[in-house]
Amino acid sequence: MKGSFAKPALFAMVLVVAMAATASGQGTRIGFYSKTCRQAESIVKSTVESHFRTNSTVAPGLLRMHFHDCFVNGCDGSVLIDGPNTERKAVQNSLLRGFEVIDDAKGKLEAACPGVVSCADILALAARDSVVLTKGINWKVPMGRRDGRVSLQADASSLPSFRSSIESQKQQFARFGLDTKDLVTLVGGHTIGTAACLVFNYRLNNFTNGGPDPTIHPSFLPQLRALCPQNGNNFRRVDLDTGSANKFDTSFFTNLKNGRGVLESDQKLWTDPSTRTIIERFLGEKGLKRLNFNKEFARSMVKMSNIGVKTGNNGEIRRVCSAIN
Ligand SMILES: *[C@@H]1O[C@H](CO)[C@@H](O)[C@H](O)[C@H]1NC(C)=O
Ligand SMILES: *[C@@H]1O[C@H](CO)[C@@H](O)[C@H](O)[C@H]1NC(C)=O
Repeated sequence: MKGSFAKPALFAMVLVVAMAATASGQGTRIGFYSKTCRQAESIVKSTVESHFRTNSTVAPGLLRMHFHDCFVNGCDGSVLIDGPNTERKAVQNSLLRGFEVIDDAKGKLEAACPGVVSCADILALAARDSVVLTKGINWKVPMGRRDGRVSLQADASSLPSFRSSIESQKQQFARFGLDTKDLVTLVGGHTIGTAACLVFNYRLNNFTNGGPDPTIHPSFLPQLRALCPQNGNNFRRVDLDTGSANKFDTSFFTNLKNGRGVLESDQKLWTDPSTRTIIERFLGEKGLKRLNFNKEFARSMVKMSNIGVKTGNNGEIRRVCSAIN
């Protein structure tokens, strides 16, 4: 599941330059559909709301799906394409959920303003709406993304893994113009997330020298073991922010501070001094300049949502989100 770093240096450099050109959001803008589809935002919002009321797990699902879209070939809706060997078929994407929400919104948008609103924009809006529904911050989403025409399973290897070191997480974010503060902030989205036992149960018993991961607090260990017993259901989902799973807040960071991180990659944000400082600032620790998590989250999301966007005449406006026209 580790990201691939085996690419030739020259290719990597070209990629960084290409991404830097779009990371600033060149081409997307607020109010992009104000003349062509005035209802675009409200249609997406009401669709996400109605699915959320039936099952609130769509909120973390859509936020994660947007992240997985942007980190693979840019925010171009490529993760939504269905078919053999598409991104959607990659192991990293096997537990994504919320496709039905995007399809539902797209159907309504095609009825209201055919051929106008891209699937990539629908996903960016749905991610924002999910944060709002879980009582997080609201922000304006610059739009005008067009949909990509390529979706390859193998490309999903550029996604960070739940075992990634901080160094490798930083590298993976830096490739898209995202710095260490963006990394900690965006991982903070796990405040509403869940994970299947299979992505962390290796930490519970035989992690080092036959013992559990020593960064798990001794009082948290039996809780996790009870949720994910050996030979239990590997697909059972566990809250990443124990005790405050459905609220977009900083308690995820408090949990990391207390050794109550579920994913190895999350807990390392506290172990590593360079990322720990940012968490301490979110938590308002004495002697440090306070950072407002919600404000930073909105800022970092706008940055992330502009990774590698296709605008103007690039790409297309898909008729259905799961298939290239
Ligand atoms: C919500 O959706 C998830 C994922 O599809 C599912 O596992 C869960 O059982 C659903 N919850 C309810 C209350 O329907
Ligand atoms: C623990 O892991 C080590 C190394 O992977 C392995 O050799 C050993 O058999 C494991 N022990 C148990 C009890 O699973």
